[in-house]
Amino acid sequence: MINNQVNADKMDILVVDDTPINLRLLSNLLNERGYEVRKAISGKLALLAAASHPPDLILLDIMMPEMDGYEVCQQLKASPITCDVPVIFLSALDDVADKMKAFDCGGADYITKPFQVKEVMARVENQLTILQQKKQLKAQNIWLQKEIQERQETELLLKAQREKFQEALQELKRTQSQLVQTEKMSSLGQLVAGLAHEINNPVTFIGGNINHAYQYMQDLMDLIGLYQVEYPHQTPAIEEALELLDLAYVKGDLEKIIESMKVGVERIRNIIRSLQNFSRLDQAQVKPVDLHEGIDSTLILLQSRLINESGKSKIQVVKRFAELPRITCYPAEINQVFMNILANAIDALEEAIQKGFFVDKNPLITVCTKLEENDLVVVNISDNGMGISEEVKNQIFNPFFTTKPVGRGTGLGLSISYSIVVEAHGGQLNCFSIPGQGAEFKIALPLNVDKLIK
Ligand SMILES: Nc1ncnc2c1ncn2[C@@H]1O[C@H](COP(=O)(O)OP(=O)(O)O)[C@@H](O)[C@H]1O
Ligand SMILES: [Mg+2]
Repeated sequence: MINNQVNADKMDILVVDDTPINLRLLSNLLNERGYEVRKAISGKLALLAAASHPPDLILLDIMMPEMDGYEVCQQLKASPITCDVPVIFLSALDDVADKMKAFDCGGADYITKPFQVKEVMARVENQLTILQQKKQLKAQNIWLQKEIQERQETELLLKAQREKFQEALQELKRTQSQLVQTEKMSSLGQLVAGLAHEINNPVTFIGGNINHAYQYMQDLMDLIGLYQVEYPHQTPAIEEALELLDLAYVKGDLEKIIESMKVGVERIRNIIRSLQNFSRLDQAQVKPVDLHEGIDSTLILLQSRLINESGKSKIQVVKRFAELPRITCYPAEINQVFMNILANAIDALEEAIQKGFFVDKNPLITVCTKLEENDLVVVNISDNGMGISEEVKNQIFNPFFTTKPVGRGTGLGLSISYSIVVEAHGGQLNCFSIPGQGAEFKIALPLNVDKLIK
């Protein structure tokens, strides 16, 4: 608070005059008004007194032997200890030039001798009031600056806390989605592994017996041939049956049927292998694997989504695989990443097909692999669908974010993939997209096993 009332009790005034009578007169006057007064009979003594204990105000005579008032004032202003002490000059010199010189060398006011007591008091009080106000202003400034700093610090603290909170929330969401997904995958994985095993048995004996059946059929056909040669005159009943059967046709067709059964069995075996490969329940541990195998298995499982009802290709897949060493990773989880990203690409292309996006080009998924800087394996999965807007792209890795209708999308695929690639493998997962031209997902995995975090 600013107080205009001068507190005379504490005010310390230094009076400087080479005439003792003047000195006494002035100091008595000031003493009577309750000021603390010190006296100096020369400029030199005045400087010493001011330097040892700076007063609140100096009344300074100009004309003094040895060192005049101007010089005293200049020296006072030149010293950091006394530069702020206001100086009122007292002088018989009444010339404008003299007064100007007094102000030039730093004087705060000027009183002409012989002085009026009232004037002196008014000017002294005036200077002291200014001084006190300056002090109060300074104190207030310091207080305000402290207040500002404190507020800034509080604001920073709040901001940091808010960020921490946001991070914790994201982490919580991610953990939750991971739990949901892990739970789902582990039961799905068990189901798939069980099914694959159950189907594998009968398929194995069908596959094994087809060859025997084929051989027996060949033998029987040869035997019939032999009968025809050895017994050229058949009974009418046999002749009729032969005519009905069209033996030559049956012989040719049976071979084709057995051939296609072989192909069918091989295809079932492939699917089973892919399912086992994909779920990899037997391989929960870190293991060196061929990533291309994982990609191929995933594509086989997605095969039905790549063709249309008539069995023709609906979405073309181009693979550009580089020579890759085996990479050490959690195979089932990495396959899950391929599945999530490839399924998203198929979703995006299906949506684009429905919207009539493909007029002058065909829906295409490209899977490229390469070795980068000798210690990173990169898998690029891109599609030529409608791409992802910047706004959507900023959110795709957030758990539960989806643009798909309820029941179609869970919004977990990419957030799970992110955890698997980045957190469990110390790799990177990035998305690039130019809206209208498609989307690309880049999976980068470290070759080095030491980088595995889990
Ligand atoms: N290849 C892609 N093309 C366009 N959008 C994509 C593509 N991949 C992902 N997205 C966007 O990312 C969102 C999140 O994907 P994801 O986490 O797998 O959840 P979901 O597939 O259940 O929606 C999708 O809803 C979609 O908007
Ligand atoms: Mg998805």
